[in-house]
Amino acid sequence: MLGLHGPRGTTAMELAAVVALCDAIFAPETRHMGPVFPTLFAPSNGEWLRTFWDGDRVVSHVGVWLGRVQAGERTLGVAHIGAVCTLPEYRNRGLAGALLADLLPRLVAAEADLLLISGHRRLYQSLGARPFGVLLRYRVPRQALEDLPLPRLGTRVPRGVDELAGLQAVEPYRYLRSAEDWSLLAPAKGYLPPVREPGPLQGMGSLVAVDGEEPVAYLLLGRPRREGDVGVLPVDEFGGERLGVLAALVQAMELRGAALAELRVRPGDVDLRRYLEAAGLRAEIQHQQGTGRILRACAFPPLHPWDPDPSLPAAPLGSGEEADAAAALTERLLGPGGLELPRNDGLNYI
Ligand SMILES: CC(C)(COP(=O)(O)OP(=O)(O)OC[C@H]1O[C@@H](n2cnc3c(N)ncnc32)[C@H](O)[C@@H]1OP(=O)(O)O)[C@@H](O)C(=O)NCCC(=O)NCCS
Repeated sequence: MLGLHGPRGTTAMELAAVVALCDAIFAPETRHMGPVFPTLFAPSNGEWLRTFWDGDRVVSHVGVWLGRVQAGERTLGVAHIGAVCTLPEYRNRGLAGALLADLLPRLVAAEADLLLISGHRRLYQSLGARPFGVLLRYRVPRQALEDLPLPRLGTRVPRGVDELAGLQAVEPYRYLRSAEDWSLLAPAKGYLPPVREPGPLQGMGSLVAVDGEEPVAYLLLGRPRREGDVGVLPVDEFGGERLGVLAALVQAMELRGAALAELRVRPGDVDLRRYLEAAGLRAEIQHQQGTGRILRACAFPPLHPWDPDPSLPAAPLGSGEEADAAAALTERLLGPGGLELPRNDGLNYI
C-alpha cells in the first residue's frame, strides 16, 4: 500500500482528475459525469468528494451531496452517496469500504440524519444500508384518465425554473432546493433546455398545467420507452393540484405518443390516490431507489412505543452487529407505515 494516501477531500485543482476517474468508470463514451452532476462535482463540494490517491493519481472515490428534505412536519438532513468507484487494479483492497466507513461520523457531525446510497452492494449493506421507503407505482393507461372529471386546463412548457420551483416549494414532501440548485439541475438533468453544454439527458422535459396564465401543476418527464407496441412514459416528479397533474399527464402522453404512464406516488398522497383508484387503477408497492440508513435516530419520530428514545444522538455507526442494528432501525422507521419521504431520484439524485 506504499504511496497510497487517504481518505481525504478533493481540492479545486484536483477536481478534474476526480471527474475523469468517474467518467472512466461510469461514462467512458460520453464523459458526462461533470455536466450531469453539477452540484456534486463542484469546487465548493470538494471536501465531500472523498478520495484515495496513489502518489498523485486518484484511485478511489466516494461522492457525497448534502441536502435537506421536508417530510411533512419534519425537516431532515440527507446525505446522498454516489459515483462510488475504484480503479480496476486497486479493487478488493478495502479502499471504497474505508472511504465509506470514514464518512459515517463525518456525516453525523454535518447533521445528516439519513444516508441514501445509489446502489444495493454488499459494501453498503455491511454499513447497515437497506432497501427503504414505500412508493406506490401506478401504471396509468391514457384511456383510464379520460373518464375522470379532469379540469379544463391548458398545458405548456414552463417559461423557466421559477414556475416549477414555485409549485414544488409548497409540496409537503419535497427536497428543499435553492434557486441555484434548480437553475443548475433542471437543465443538467434534461427537464429544461440546457443553457450550457448538454450531457446525455435522463429527463425528457417538463410540462405545466395552467389555469389561464397561472401554473397550477407540473410534471418532470422521464425518457419514454417501448414495451412491445406500447409507449410508456415515466413521470420523474410532479407537484401542484392533483387533478391538474392528471390533466397535464394526459397531454404529456399525447405529446410523447405514450399509451401508458408510470407514476410513483407516496402512500400518504391520498387525493391523487383517490383519483387514480376512481379510474380503476391499482398500485404495486416499491422501494425508493438504492439503499438507505438512518444516521441520527433523534431526527425520526418514535412511531411506536417500542421505538428508540428520540433523544438518542445517533444510530450505531460501526459494522457487524452495529450495522445490523442500524439496518433494523431503518427498516422499522422507513418501512411500511413509517415516515414517508419524497422520491429520491430524478432531479434529486446527486
Ligand atoms: C464497487 C467498487 C467501488 C468497490 O471498490 P473497492 O475499492 O474494490 O471496494 P472494497 O475493496 O472496499 O470492497 C470490495 C468488495 O469486497 C467486500 N469486502 C471487503 N472486505 C471484506 C471482508 N473482509 N470480507 C468479505 N467481503 C469483504 C466488500 O463488501 C465489497 O463487496 P461488493 O463488491 O459485493 O459490494 C468497485 O468494484 C468499482 O469501482 N466498481 C465499478 C463501479 C460501481 O459499480 N460502483 C458502484 C455503484 S453502486
